Amino acid sequence: MTNFQQFLALLSILICIKAEWKTVQLTGDVPNNIVFHESVEYVTAAGSQLILLFGGQMLNGNILNQNIYQIDVQKYQVTKITPGGSVMTGRTKFASCSIVIASNTYVFLHGGYCAGNSFCGDFFQYDVAANSYQNLTNTLSRAEHSIVCDSQNNQIWLFGGKSSSTSVMNDLWQYDITSSAWKQADYNIFSQVVLNVVLWDGTTASITIDKYSDYLQISPSDLSNAPTMTLFGGPYDCSVQVTQMPNCRSNYSLLQKQNDPYLYLIGGQDSKNVFQDIWIYDIANKVWIQPQDGLPSTYTQFFTQQRATLSYSQDFTFLFGGYNWSTYSTNGFARSFSNGKISQLKIPQYSSQLAPQKVVGYSINSFSSGITMTGGCEDNTLINVSCAQSQLSLYILGINDCNQASTNHNQAKCMYGKYWCFDQFWGDLCQNNLCPGSMCLNDINSFESPFCYMCFGNGQCNSSGQCTSCTQTLAGISFIQNDCSTVDCKNSCGNAGTCVNYYPVSSCNCQKLLGGDYCGKTFCLNDCSNSGTCQQNGQCQCNQDKEGADCSIQIIGFLS
Ligand SMILES: *[C@@H]1O[C@H](CO)[C@@H](O)[C@H](O)[C@H]1NC(C)=O
Ligand SMILES: *[C@@H]1O[C@H](CO)[C@@H](O)[C@H](O)[C@H]1NC(C)=O
Ligand SMILES: *[C@@H]1O[C@H](CO)[C@@H](O)[C@H](O)[C@H]1NC(C)=O
Ligand SMILES: *[C@@H]1O[C@H](CO)[C@@H](O)[C@H](O)[C@H]1NC(C)=O
Ligand SMILES: *[C@@H]1O[C@H](CO)[C@@H](O)[C@H](O)[C@H]1NC(C)=O
Repeated sequence: MTNFQQFLALLSILICIKAEWKTVQLTGDVPNNIVFHESVEYVTAAGSQLILLFGGQMLNGNILNQNIYQIDVQKYQVTKITPGGSVMTGRTKFASCSIVIASNTYVFLHGGYCAGNSFCGDFFQYDVAANSYQNLTNTLSRAEHSIVCDSQNNQIWLFGGKSSSTSVMNDLWQYDITSSAWKQADYNIFSQVVLNVVLWDGTTASITIDKYSDYLQISPSDLSNAPTMTLFGGPYDCSVQVTQMPNCRSNYSLLQKQNDPYLYLIGGQDSKNVFQDIWIYDIANKVWIQPQDGLPSTYTQFFTQQRATLSYSQDFTFLFGGYNWSTYSTNGFARSFSNGKISQLKIPQYSSQLAPQKVVGYSINSFSSGITMTGGCEDNTLINVSCAQSQLSLYILGINDCNQASTNHNQAKCMYGKYWCFDQFWGDLCQNNLCPGSMCLNDINSFESPFCYMCFGNGQCNSSGQCTSCTQTLAGISFIQNDCSTVDCKNSCGNAGTCVNYYPVSSCNCQKLLGGDYCGKTFCLNDCSNSGTCQQNGQCQCNQDKEGADCSIQIIGFLS
């Protein structure tokens, strides 16, 4: 197979991709900008897409907010709700998730920092239909953490986070919604166990076991000399680098795709490190798995400050922003659930449609029609005056919502926040015509720019679809033709033939009786049937007893 054939074999779709954010002007009871709040999304029976925004810090005087703001994502309208029941006190850096039970949405809100930066240590359930809070019993005091609602198992999962002013954790907890009980999740895992045993001959040996605990069947009493066991890492031991479960951390993202038996943990930080890893907890098998792909180190991205559930549409998790104490990122990434591939979103910076620059304290919600980003700030100092004084912001990355001004609908389909080019078009906005001998290739599980193979790999495709600068040469001969595919024939085929265009090497179609690479050789008919000499003019000079144009006729001599 040639490279080109391989390329054709790979070719399935032509797509050019671009994500577009829409800045929305909110009306109604719009509060000042909020950071470190939580928000959940839900869709009413009538189809309204709503976000409920809880808690957070309003920067005009650091007011911890006790109201709930309901944002209608289609009407861009904010309604302030005064909830009833045992109302949750204002707080920041807490955790939330929502679940639908008997067609009513329940929101769970856990921990965080209350006034005076003290750990709140409580846990609430908010019943959307009743607009009422319930104060649930709680055993865990956490902040800077995340919870996810697992609708399949009617559970809430909580991972690590800050448990005191100094320590971050890596334990995993389950809350059973039906029985209202917390319990620590099981791990079929020891990161490493070393057994030091004295053998029958008096020598000592150490056995290292680093697989699942199911395989650890030796109990100390089975051995005549009690072994010393050392457990490295694992829950509660954050002093060493663990390799088989996530390090202790806070400010990570935790998410679960609906009906998917895995928890996804992305990024986060402890007091010294910013993590750029991805961990998957396999709920059925109770093990943490680290996918090989991780986050490409070339992407300078800090997935802290997310604490958001980002499961979205069929296949992608979207991640935005983040910081590492000194550097801020406004990048966006998409991770495919199906193949784990991570690609960078190319968010355009159009003057009229700025991509959000929020890197900390915002919240993300996802709807079938798109993703929303609410509140947050441009940096972690929270002293940015425009951040503090501006209104609550809402940005929407809509599935069918590309920048109208830059989409040519005859050339691209805007879908899923990105431009998919029709055949014969290429470029960020599919604005260019594709050249002959060119194709663009992309992976549907990736938001990366398509890989384009232009002008048979020998030239450049300009925006009007014409190959330019077919500069490369093969064996010293320039490429010709409008697709840069053909090598010119040497010596112009001796002016005795035409150059035919076969990729990648041309050949001469010579005039009758001429041949050779460049028509420089004369041939006689049937090579004079081996019974004559081929002359310069292409005529056979036959041997004495032969005749005919190719000397194939035997001259029979008659005796006379
Ligand atoms: C919730 O209940 C806990 C104890 O169960 C209590 O300490 C806390 O003050 C309550 N919170 C509110 C806002 O009522
Ligand atoms: C988590 O983020 C908050 C808010 O930016 C920050 O104050 C805190 O130090 C972070 N936690 C860790 C462990 O770095
Ligand atoms: C933060 O990121 C910058 C840029 O990548 C890097 O130079 C710096 O060392 C990082 N700081 C920490 C504390 O990780
Ligand atoms: C503050 O935020 C505005 C946007 O709201 C941004 O243009 C500006 O650069 C920010 N300033 C700092 C110091 O980060
Ligand atoms: C593309 O190249 C062709 C041939 O060189 C030229 O005529 C045309 O003007 C170019 N188009 C653009 C947009 O540069």
